[in-house]
Amino acid sequence: MPTNRITPVSQALGDVHTVFITGGAGFIGSHTVDFFLRKGRRVVAIDDLSTGCLDNLDEAFAFPNFSFIEENVSNVDWLGLLDRHDTVVHLAASVGVKKVCESALVTAHNNHVPVEMILNAMREKGGGRFLYASSSEVYGDSPLIGSSESDFLQVHTHLGGRSAYTVSKLYGELIALAYAEAHQIPVTVMRFFNTIGTRQRSEYGMVVPIFVQQALLSEPITVYGDGTQTRSFCDVGDLAGAIFSLSASSHSAGKIYNLGNPEEISIYELAQFVKAETGSNSPIHLLQFPPERADDTDIRRRKPNIARIESEIGWRPRIHWKQSVRNIIRETAYIAPVLQAEKHAQRFHH
Ligand SMILES: NC(=O)c1ccc[n+]([C@@H]2O[C@H](COP(=O)([O-])OP(=O)(O)OC[C@H]3O[C@@H](n4cnc5c(N)ncnc54)[C@H](O)[C@@H]3O)[C@@H](O)[C@H]2O)c1
Repeated sequence: MPTNRITPVSQALGDVHTVFITGGAGFIGSHTVDFFLRKGRRVVAIDDLSTGCLDNLDEAFAFPNFSFIEENVSNVDWLGLLDRHDTVVHLAASVGVKKVCESALVTAHNNHVPVEMILNAMREKGGGRFLYASSSEVYGDSPLIGSSESDFLQVHTHLGGRSAYTVSKLYGELIALAYAEAHQIPVTVMRFFNTIGTRQRSEYGMVVPIFVQQALLSEPITVYGDGTQTRSFCDVGDLAGAIFSLSASSHSAGKIYNLGNPEEISIYELAQFVKAETGSNSPIHLLQFPPERADDTDIRRRKPNIARIESEIGWRPRIHWKQSVRNIIRETAYIAPVLQAEKHAQRFHH
C-alpha cells in the first residue's frame, strides 16, 4: 500500500500528458526524472526504494509538476493510474551483479512481470507510449565487436541470477514488441550499455563507484582478471537525454536502440585514472574473478554500435567518461568522511 511519503498524483490530470517513470528514485531513473522535469513535463516517479533512495529526488521535489509514489510497480493499479495519452518509461528492475544473484527467482519475476501488467493497462486504455529499459547484457558472449541491434544473441542460461537478469530483460523486450505489434502500442526498446555518473551506488557491484570509494579510502583498488577486459561508459546525463529524445520521436516506435558511448577503455586503465585523479596511494590489485563473475563468463569487450540512434534520432553522447568519473569522485569525496567512519565502526565490531 502507498505510504505517507507519497505526493498525491494530481486529481486533475485530465488529458495533460504525464510521464510515469518507474524506478524513478534509482540511479538512471532519478536523472531521467530531472531531465523530463527540466523540459517542462509533468512527471510521476514510482519506486519501491529497494535499491533507489529519496535523496536522489531532491531536485525533482522542487518542481510543482512532480509527484512520487512509493510502491512496487507490480502492486500499482495501472488501469486506474494511466490516461491514454501518457508515457511510461519503465526502468524499475533488479540490477547489479550482487543484487541479481541474491535470488534468480526474484530477479526474473521482478524484471518481467510488470512489463506485461503495464502494457495490458495501456491496451485497455487504448493508447500511451511505452519505453522499456533493456540491457547490453542481452548481447551475451557475441563475438562481434561493436554490438548492433540486429546481431545474433548468444546468452548464458546457467548462471543463476545473472542469467535471470539477462533472460528476463530479453523476455521483456520480446513481450513489449509483441504487444506493440498486436495492439498498436508505440513501444521502444532501449538497450543501455554501461552507464556511469553521480548517484550510482557501489554496494551492488558497479565498478566505477567501487574503484572511487576504494581510492578515497586508501584501500586496494580491486581489478578482476588481468584488467585488459574493456567497457564503454556512457554518462547518465547523456543517457537521460537519449531517453527523452526517443520518447519525443515518432520514428522510434516498434524498434530497438542501443544507448551507450562507443569509446572503449580497459578496466585497468580505469583503475589507473581513478587512482591518479584522487591522488590516492591505493595499490591496484589484480584478483581472480569471484564465482558470480567466473572468468569464462565475464564479457571481454563491450562496445555499442550507435549508428541507428544517431541516424534516426540524431542523438550521440557528448560527455567523456573521464568527466563522468571526475563528477563521481567529487560526489564521493563529499561523503568520504562518513564512509571512513563506517569502515572504522565495522572494524570495531569485528
Ligand atoms: N546502470 C547501468 O549501467 C545499466 C545498464 C543496462 C541496463 N540498465 C537498466 O536500467 C534500469 C535502471 O537501472 P539503474 O542502474 O538505475 O539501477 P537502480 O537500482 O539504481 O534503479 C532501479 C530502481 O528500480 C527500483 N525498483 C526495483 N524493483 C522495483 C519494483 N518492483 N517496483 C518499484 N521500484 C522498483 C529500485 O528501488 C531502484 O530505484 C534497469 O532497468 C536496468 O536493468 C542499467
